[in-house]
Amino acid sequence: MKKPMHILKADQFDRNFLAYLFELTDNIRRLDKSKEGQMYLQSLLNHKRAMLYFTQPSTRTFMSFQSACHILGIKSLEIRDSSTSSERKGESVEDSLQTFSSYVDLIIMRSPIAGLCDKMAQLLNSTHRPVPIINAGSGPDQHPTQALLDMYTLNRSFRKSGGFKGKTIALVGDLKRGRTVRSLSQLLMQYEGVKLLFVSPEEFKIGADLRTQLAEAPGLSFEETSNFKAAIGAADAIYMTRVQDEYDLSGESKKIDTKEFHLRLEHLPLLKKDCVIMHPFPRRDEIDPRVDQDPRAKYWRQERNGMWTRVALITNILGVDNRIIMPEL
Ligand code: NCD
Repeated sequence: MKKPMHILKADQFDRNFLAYLFELTDNIRRLDKSKEGQMYLQSLLNHKRAMLYFTQPSTRTFMSFQSACHILGIKSLEIRDSSTSSERKGESVEDSLQTFSSYVDLIIMRSPIAGLCDKMAQLLNSTHRPVPIINAGSGPDQHPTQALLDMYTLNRSFRKSGGFKGKTIALVGDLKRGRTVRSLSQLLMQYEGVKLLFVSPEEFKIGADLRTQLAEAPGLSFEETSNFKAAIGAADAIYMTRVQDEYDLSGESKKIDTKEFHLRLEHLPLLKKDCVIMHPFPRRDEIDPRVDQDPRAKYWRQERNGMWTRVALITNILGVDNRIIMPEL
């Protein structure tokens, strides 16, 4: 059996693929505008089933993947807690995932363990029924589909102002353990003339491995800073993130004061006129909810874009994307 295409890490995508996926996503959104288009989308994969295996908390990613499946007619099964599966009886996660592959055509998984998806993909490739795996978040390591929806949102926002070239993007918060920042940075690295500002307290600076990758990326420049106000004033996009304290060893995050890195109403006059404010969510105090009223706040739209980007990705993985380009419907 042919090896399926797994979605494991952001850096597996190149610019051509991203451009293709953005267009595919736009076409899917267009189709969804009419009942006929919606019925057509639902007919594309209504013979398929997907497993949503989410053993780490999730609201948006889970719901957007589930909705993406429904939009395409895919029936979804779910496990959200390994204590309700046979892992409780001592079954290994490897055996559990191989079991799912007996029943479904696609596995979408989120786990607190970095690297588990890669391991599973390898394992499934060696079985007689290898189904594709989509990484929906693997510990502090990777969140490739979040990076796709973030890029889609940025691409739409930058369309009128000449694209990514020359843009400054500030990434703020817990950059050390935030998988969204890590995956997004890996995609942004492919766009020449982009400048990244990593804005955090000392304790939450990006990891050494990402720093090395950034330094090797041609055409990209980056800076690490703790000057929040200067960074947001210079940015064409601001990507806010929360403290990832679920990875604390002993509550150490509590000792770090992040207040200086929160976006409040008083900061809005400092921002560029067309600045794009983003957040992968969930948010805590990083963005005052009153900022939501500002037209530059794009995070709710970003959240919905996640569903459309995931629909596009699934059509691609399951080989029906060639049936999407029909905007006259
Ligand atoms: C992010 C995640 O799970 O990494 N959330 C999401 O998927 N939208 C960000 C976070 O939890 O802080």
